[in-house]
Amino acid sequence: MKIIKQGAEAILYLDKNNLVKERIVKNYRLKEIDDSLRKSRTRREAKLLKKADVINVPKVIEVDDKSMKITMEYIQGDLIKDILDSLKEEERRNVCKQIGEEVANLHNLDIIHGDLTTSNMILKNSKVYFIDFGLGFVDPKVEHKAVDLHLLRQALESKHYKYFEDSFKHVLLGYKKSKEYNEVLKRLKKVEKRGRYKSKND
Ligand SMILES: Nc1ncnc2c1ncn2[C@@H]1O[C@H](COP(=O)(O)OP(=O)(O)O)[C@@H](O)[C@H]1O
Ligand SMILES: [Mg+2]
Repeated sequence: MKIIKQGAEAILYLDKNNLVKERIVKNYRLKEIDDSLRKSRTRREAKLLKKADVINVPKVIEVDDKSMKITMEYIQGDLIKDILDSLKEEERRNVCKQIGEEVANLHNLDIIHGDLTTSNMILKNSKVYFIDFGLGFVDPKVEHKAVDLHLLRQALESKHYKYFEDSFKHVLLGYKKSKEYNEVLKRLKKVEKRGRYKSKND
């Protein structure tokens, strides 16, 4: 058994070339609450991975909400977080544009990812795969789509500040695929104003 990552919520390991994401017990939570949280997150993630299969996501092989395990396709590639800054300019722009297009494809189905960071994206054969839908949900509201983009913008700003402006510009070029591009962008400006106001008063 090869452990890929031991995270705060889950342990991820390889089993017969498949990836298993197992949500682990959190002893600081009441058992009933812990069980129901792990169960709902496991189910939710599997459901969204299936619904999101219009874009590149790992195929779900098995879901077990007793042992809180999702078995899925293992995507053998590089985490975008680890490689984005070292890509050649043209490829970096292409990857960012692809990220924007795929987020638009998700949003066109009203799927909100909920945790759009470059640790939840894998590049394999120049294609971007999205993972970690445990915080995702389905909702048509423009507000949620704008917050999704805002979190992605923040992730780029904090982890990839060197080319942040140019990268996010290319994300938005890709996001033109969204049916509600203008509305979401307008709302994004409001979300960002709120963010600035809040941090001034923290
Ligand atoms: N299907 C997969 N294929 C390859 N690597 C994966 C896959 N799913 C997760 N990983 C790896 O495990 C890490 C953690 O998985 P993730 O689903 O993001 O859980 P967490 O909630 O701990 O962030 C990812 O950043 C990635 O490196
Ligand atoms: Mg993750």
